[in-house]
Order: sequence, then structure tokens, then C-alpha cells
Amino acid sequence: MPHPLPDDLLTLPHRRDVPFPKLTTLGVGGLCRWLFEPATEAEAQRFVQACAREALPYRVLGGGSNLVIFGDVEVPVLRLAFPKTLRQDGPRLSAPASYGHIRLSQDAGRLGLSGLEYAAGIPGSTGGALRMNAGAYGTELVEVLDTFRFLTPDGDLIEKRPDPGEFGYRSSFLTGGHVALAYTVRLAPGDAGVIQAKVAENMGRRGTSQPLSRRNAGCIFKNPAGLSAGRLIDQAGLKGLRIGDAEVSPDHANFLINHGHATPEDFDALMEAVREKVRMFHGVELEPEVEIWRSPGSEG
Ligand code: EPU
Repeated sequence: MPHPLPDDLLTLPHRRDVPFPKLTTLGVGGLCRWLFEPATEAEAQRFVQACAREALPYRVLGGGSNLVIFGDVEVPVLRLAFPKTLRQDGPRLSAPASYGHIRLSQDAGRLGLSGLEYAAGIPGSTGGALRMNAGAYGTELVEVLDTFRFLTPDGDLIEKRPDPGEFGYRSSFLTGGHVALAYTVRLAPGDAGVIQAKVAENMGRRGTSQPLSRRNAGCIFKNPAGLSAGRLIDQAGLKGLRIGDAEVSPDHANFLINHGHATPEDFDALMEAVREKVRMFHGVELEPEVEIWRSPGSEG
């Protein structure tokens, strides 16, 4: 990676050598060598344009809740530090990508707007939720998405409605240098008490079936079509399988937990062991649901 970084990039707010365990819920990984934290869309755009001009690869970090990092990351990392302001226009709510996803679900309940109850308990930022088309209980973000704003890898700012094929199961086209900036959801007016009760129920439901008191990155593997990754791993007898401080959760087998000092090597080895054993036991190939960053510069 070229050194030093271009001068115009260095005028943007940034920090050096930030430990990834402080930036991710799993608490694993090395150092983030360059963490850029723009406070406005214009600053984010300047970041992307400068990187595009220099053909400099970069990565985009959201809430760090769906991410497993193996090692140090030398390329610039972008984490939006936009003011967390929510706007309401009738049944529409607009949030910046830096807004908390759970908070948005709770705010919608408080405002008597239905459609985001499923999102209670899905951690991370709204930008990450958009990028992953987050979902739970058979509902996903794209179903309530009205418009969204993003930067292209060239730094062009676009606002549009979702088109068919742009969002799939835990996936979207907002990868490879795209940066989600904000979105508007269109919800249905309802009874605030009923909606808030559902939000609380969904949060509780997740809390009883998932090991949320331990550091984790959410579900590690995607559910293969028509199957449950958690059940497959459980049936292969892997609950409690432990390498170093990384363990297959005894509560929910699709969660790998960090007991405190797990290393990237522990996690790499545990994920591979789970995939191999599920392949042998069921003949099924598990694909990571989490984003994986391997240094240097490979796309996760
Ligand atoms: N199961 C087992 N053993 C386990 C875990 C689950 O037998 O160790 C069984 C359960 O009994 C159930 C089935 O597997 O019959 C499905 O389990 P669960 O209801 O927990 O749902 P899931 O498919 O494992 C999905 C999402 C979760 C989301 C829940 C609730 C994926 C990969 N996972 O989990 O999302 O919280 O539904 O809607 O789509 C995440 O995105 O990080 C995540 C965890």
C-alpha cells in the first residue's frame, strides 16, 4: 500500500493504530492502522474520491457487529461519525448510516410506526443493516426500504429507490467500495403500545436463544437454503468445541464466542473446523454470514 497517504486524505478526521477489539463486538483482530471518521457526507465523499483518484483500496466499517478480522489492516478504514439525527415525515423515518439499528427499531415503536419490529435485537449500524439487508423472523430491511443514499466507488453520491435484484438474503450490491450514507424507511402507522411490546418481545426472544452476554459477531454462517446452520452445527455435535478462547456457543451453535483473549488464529481455526465437520457430517457447505477481513487488502 502506498505511503504516505495523499495530503488531502490526511486533512480528514482520522486516528492511527486503533485496536480492532475496540471497534468490533467480537473483540478479535489486530490494529486498524488508519481509521477515518468523517462527520459529514461531504467529508465521506472527499475520502472516497481521494482513494479513487489514487487507486487506493479501503474498507468500510459499520458498528463492527458482523465482522471477523484476522490480523492488522493497513489500508484506510472508513467509519462514519455522522450526527445521529432521526427525521420523521409522516410514516417515513430517515436515519444516517451511523444510527443504531436497534435504536431505530425502538424509535419507530415509540413513534407508533410498525414495520421495524423484526430489527429489535439486530445489533450494528443502520448502514451495516442496509449493506447486509439485515433480517429476522422472516422479514428483511428491503421490505420497508423507501429510498437510500450511497457513494459509488468513484465517489458519486446517489439517492434512489431499491430495484429488484439489488438486495438479496443478507446481501446487497453495496460492497467493493460503495458506502451507505443514509436511508428512509416507509412504515405503517399503528398503536405505539402494541408495536413497542412486539419490539420488546423480539429483543427478549433473541436474548433467550442467543449468547448475547458473551462477545460474539452474531450468526457466523448463512442458513443454507431450507436449512438452519445452527441446527446443522448442533446435530454435528459441535456445541462447546473450543480452540483457545474461541468456542462454539453451547446456547446457539451458529454463534462463536470469544471468552476474552481469542486470537484471530483461534477464530480462523474454529470456523474452518466447524465447516469441515459439517461437510463431513451433513455433506453441506457452510458459507460465512459475517464479513471477514484478512490482511492485507483482500476483499471480505
Ligand atoms: N437450532 C438448533 N440448535 C442450535 C440453534 C438452533 O437446533 O444450536 C434450531 C432451532 O431450534 C430452530 C432452528 O434451528 O428450530 C433455527 O434457529 P433460530 O430460530 O435461532 O434461527 P436461526 O435461523 O439460527 C436466524 C438468523 C438470526 C436471527 C434469528 C431470529 C441467520 C443466519 N440467522 O437464526 O440472525 O436472529 O433467525 O430471527 O439468518 C444474525 O443475523 O447475526 C443472526 C443471528
